[in-house]
Amino acid sequence: MIRVGIIGFGYWGPNLVRVFRGLPDCAVVGIVDSRDEALTAAGTMHSGVGLFRGVDDLLDAGVDAVVVATPASTHYEIGARLLDAGIDVLIEKPLALSVEEGVRLAEKAGAKRRVLMVGHLLEYHPALVQFQEIVRSGELGELYYLYTTRVNLGRVRTAESALWDLAPHDISIIRYLTDAKPRIVSGQGGSYIRPGLEDVIFATITFEGGVIANVHVSWLDPHKVRRVTVVGDRRMAVFDDMEPAEKIRIIDKGIDTTEHYESFQDAMTERIGDIRIPPAPIGEPLKYEGAHFLDCVRDRTTPRTDARSGIRVLELLEAIEISIRSGGAPVEIRERA
Ligand SMILES: NC(=O)c1ccc[n+]([C@@H]2O[C@H](COP(=O)([O-])OP(=O)(O)OC[C@H]3O[C@@H](n4cnc5c(N)ncnc54)[C@H](O)[C@@H]3O)[C@@H](O)[C@H]2O)c1
Repeated sequence: MIRVGIIGFGYWGPNLVRVFRGLPDCAVVGIVDSRDEALTAAGTMHSGVGLFRGVDDLLDAGVDAVVVATPASTHYEIGARLLDAGIDVLIEKPLALSVEEGVRLAEKAGAKRRVLMVGHLLEYHPALVQFQEIVRSGELGELYYLYTTRVNLGRVRTAESALWDLAPHDISIIRYLTDAKPRIVSGQGGSYIRPGLEDVIFATITFEGGVIANVHVSWLDPHKVRRVTVVGDRRMAVFDDMEPAEKIRIIDKGIDTTEHYESFQDAMTERIGDIRIPPAPIGEPLKYEGAHFLDCVRDRTTPRTDARSGIRVLELLEAIEISIRSGGAPVEIRERA
């Protein structure tokens, strides 16, 4: 039986407690939050679980593995404290707020031989896993470009920008879909709700070999969109998480060229073929994420979204942030993971 603690009982923490309480061979033994109201709410919802105001109180109570669901600005400090104490840790996305912090957490986990996983939730989404298999199978042909849209109205954060709140999901998806090495990023952001804290970001990543990826995240948008579009030289594919069932579409559309033609215009014909909607598997991504963490703790294996995966996302977030600060200037990526 793995004794699990959850730190942070704000918006996301209650989902984690619910999921871990439902997983086999694990017991949620403690919930930590620095706010009294949060602990009162936790106590009402989960009787019999220890309630603590600080990380050290949880460690004193005895715990094997901990999930950190506090704001990103606290991830490094709390993660480091837990790893130093010899605890296996799942940290919500983003792993930390800089590559430097991410690398230090990875080093601590390595030194103590602890599991360190980052909550890149979408990589545990069964339909996105299937989408990745389709993209990687070559069915779309050679990858040309892809773009992600994660926009809606609210929930506005007060400490991190939409880049650090929303884009970790999209960057982890992009890195999951392609192994290509990112070379250059540029980003533009707008702070319309709070000065100095971007609520809208458009960022472009150029990969070795020429693939381009664009990320659009926003808290200030009339639509709720959660979509990934991938265009290859043979087919196009869309993952739409707002669709209740038909989340994946493979579209046989493109521009075909013929060798014998009178004019350049004649050489190109639009190909409008079938749209295939493969049955997408269903299931709560957070349950798969939680179960995978427990498997890694039990079997002493490396998570699919390990510290390296967290750092690879931080490298791009950090570079996009630098680009936004310099008015959209291209920033080269120096990979550390
Ligand atoms: N995977 C997802 O889809 C998803 C969705 C939402 C949030 N998240 C992530 O979950 C984390 C938490 O987000 P949230 O929206 O729940 O934030 P939140 O602000 O609603 O809640 C954070 C909680 O942590 C508590 N807290 C802050 N510092 C603390 C400390 N040092 N010790 C103990 N408790 C502390 C706060 O009192 C608060 O109750 C973030 O990393 C966020 O990116 C992930």
